[in-house]
Amino acid sequence: METQQRVCPWWLGYTFINPLRKYQHNPDKILAPHIKPGMQVLDYGCGMGYFSLHMARMVGENGKVYCVDIQPKMLKNLERRTRKAGYTDIVSSILVGENYEPQKLKNQIDFALLFAVVHEVPNQQKLFNEVYAMLKPGGKVLFAEPPGHVKPTEFEISVAKALNAGFTISEEKPSQKKLAVLFAK
Ligand SMILES: C[S@@+](CC[C@H](N)C(=O)[O-])C[C@H]1O[C@@H](n2cnc3c(N)ncnc32)[C@H](O)[C@@H]1O
Repeated sequence: METQQRVCPWWLGYTFINPLRKYQHNPDKILAPHIKPGMQVLDYGCGMGYFSLHMARMVGENGKVYCVDIQPKMLKNLERRTRKAGYTDIVSSILVGENYEPQKLKNQIDFALLFAVVHEVPNQQKLFNEVYAMLKPGGKVLFAEPPGHVKPTEFEISVAKALNAGFTISEEKPSQKKLAVLFAK
């Protein structure tokens, strides 16, 4: 079912790439247990790429990071930061409504990150179905929501949609995050 959700304004994206964020969301602690060199990974709702560039470092030159967002300004900034970091061969920037074609990534993704985005998506079931289809069998998804914006009951409804898409729960509250689940296909 489509519901009206509020997409975070593009200019707020700058606050998400603040280096001090690592004290709250340490990319190495959050991602390193799941990402290995050579993997193909997805950062859905990547914003300006706070996690994306760390994912690029972790997959290395033989891996790939697919970064999807719905706001062109978020992706423009991600692309600038990608060039500066020297990761243009690893990071692909994908705009919903333009070059987002999940069917082309069917069974190709080892790991997907859905960080602070699902509550902004009008049709969560469709998103979980798409991510499920993109994942390789055995692939993992880290789903996390910001406790300040999302109530535990809303989070549970999203989790139910992910289970309905076919995922199983691999770990509850990974990295001690209150509203987080690691799913497996
Ligand atoms: C709160 S920000 C989080 C950004 C990033 N995941 C992070 O943690 O730094 C949410 C992001 O999701 C994007 N977004 C919202 N709805 C979306 C949708 N339907 N499809 C793809 N991206 C979406 C927004 O444009 C925004 O960049």
